[in-house]
Amino acid sequence: MVEQSLVFIKPDGVRRNLIAEVVGRFERRGFGFKKLELRTLSPNEVDAHYQEHVGKDFYPRLRDFILSGPVLLMVLEGDRAIDVIRTMVGPTDALDALPGTIRGDLALSKGENIIHASDSVASAEREIENFFGALVA
Ligand code: RTP
Ligand code: MG
Repeated sequence: MVEQSLVFIKPDGVRRNLIAEVVGRFERRGFGFKKLELRTLSPNEVDAHYQEHVGKDFYPRLRDFILSGPVLLMVLEGDRAIDVIRTMVGPTDALDALPGTIRGDLALSKGENIIHASDSVASAEREIENFFGALVA
């Protein structure tokens, strides 16, 4: 089943010059790139994206971090993209992530964990519309 996932390299990954490292993993795995865009998100985009976390104690720190510099937005397409990419990314807390995963190889923090990837088909559709204004053909 071909799916799309909304993925972005967070500002820590861009600052640490990990764009080629992360994008290369998705290219080599075989995903198609439907969108690839480097830009700083707006506060409204971030609040909409993380709507389930707004109001939690960690949210102000998360919001400031995501707004602290450009992110590399991607819409990736491939078979079972949602689950395959979440497996490539690893668990939220990079300290729990196994070597071989993006977080397990490149991060050492729960807050600054390099990358976001959609967690369901419904989330992916909502996130793609939030960042690109419409679903991507
Ligand atoms: P993401 O949405 O960024 O891909 O990460 P995720 O699905 O693995 O994790 P999620 O539960 O959606 O949390 C979103 C981001 O919030 C930060 N976070 N901090 N207790 C904490 O300090 C805490 N919990 C979550 C992380 O940066 C996480 O990626
Ligand atoms: Mg999430």
